[in-house]
Amino acid sequence: MNYQSVFSELVHDREDTLQDTLKRTYRILFLEDNPDDIELMRHELSEAGMDFISEQTDKRLDFGKFVSDFKPDIILADYSLSTFNGMQAFYILRKEDLLIPFILVTGALSEQLALECLKEGVDDFILKSSFKRLPAAIANAVKKKEVEQEKNLIAQELRKSHDELQLLVERQQSTIEDERMSIARDLHDELGQTLTALKIDITMLRKKLSSGTLTDQIVITEFDSITKLINKLTGSVKRISSGLRPETLDELGIIESIRWQAAEFEKRYEIKCSTFLNSGPTVLDRNLSIALFRIVQESLTNVVRHANATQVEIFLEQIDDFLFLAVSDNGKGIHEDQLKSSQSLGLIGLRERVRLFNGKLNIRSEEANGTMVSVMIPLTQSNQS
Ligand SMILES: Nc1ncnc2c1ncn2[C@@H]1O[C@H](COP(=O)(O)OP(=O)(O)O)[C@@H](O)[C@H]1O
Ligand SMILES: [Mg+2]
Repeated sequence: MNYQSVFSELVHDREDTLQDTLKRTYRILFLEDNPDDIELMRHELSEAGMDFISEQTDKRLDFGKFVSDFKPDIILADYSLSTFNGMQAFYILRKEDLLIPFILVTGALSEQLALECLKEGVDDFILKSSFKRLPAAIANAVKKKEVEQEKNLIAQELRKSHDELQLLVERQQSTIEDERMSIARDLHDELGQTLTALKIDITMLRKKLSSGTLTDQIVITEFDSITKLINKLTGSVKRISSGLRPETLDELGIIESIRWQAAEFEKRYEIKCSTFLNSGPTVLDRNLSIALFRIVQESLTNVVRHANATQVEIFLEQIDDFLFLAVSDNGKGIHEDQLKSSQSLGLIGLRERVRLFNGKLNIRSEEANGTMVSVMIPLTQSNQS
């Protein structure tokens, strides 16, 4: 996967959404059998300077097809058609749970009937004698539905993120327990065993000393053995403590730390790990450095656990005022379901970490073409040290 193109797409993504909101063309579906009325309405909308494209039908069968294919922003329906009626069309939409703004257009409608239609959920009704009101009515109805939809969406997202947060907290608790267990195991297995061996060596040495059987050769051999054990202890302490808190991060900065991490990874798992960190920044806020380090760590752990990859590449690059980090593997790829799953707590944790720095996380995956986890973080004042 080409990381440069992923990075520049991430930048353009922001620009596109901005453009989208600046301009709009209304997609109007006329459910109307009188061509003169349609012409009048179109005229009224053009006069008001409204940008629109439209389709027309007066048949039940075509109506469904236009709704699904043309995807109107609004439907202007005549109350009484020869074979079909405006309210019937409205009920069809409602049955399908389609929240398309709907305005009834009628020659004449009793006040009572109009009220009933509004109560049913129709957004507005317009008399054919007052088409002047049409542009404003359309804009209002569309806006109202959009706000409604946005509210629903926000509520949905809020619920989802609340659930995710709860899972994340639970996971964090159990991660802390797991980590304690693994530190305890490391301390017991590595340090405990080596210390025991050291104690045995020293006890032996002392015994031989008191029984007078100690020769120079034995002293040299025992000291060599003790030195070996002490070296092993030093190595274990270093490995355990750098797993807890990478010392290189404070001493050498993010670039060297990632390089170190990649080298350790390659040694330990025999998966080739290349780094491309040349134009990355060297001085970063400490919390951001830790976050980047953990993102690489989590991504590399995922590669080992899930990807079945033979190669990993890590990129760090500054483009304008943005920092890009990507970890890309050549493994089996992530399934779409897993990307969206609220059980993917590692990935959700990554997204949350990035969000803390106002950044964006992107995961790209193609079957048999591997996975690329990339993040884009704005280098604001607070993200630099
Ligand atoms: N690099 C990768 N390659 C293939 N699959 C991956 C990769 N990273 C993650 N996955 C898939 O996405 C799922 C979610 O990942 P994650 O949230 O980190 O959870 P966990 O690692 O605890 O299973 C994993 O269970 C795995 O199936
Ligand atoms: Mg994981």
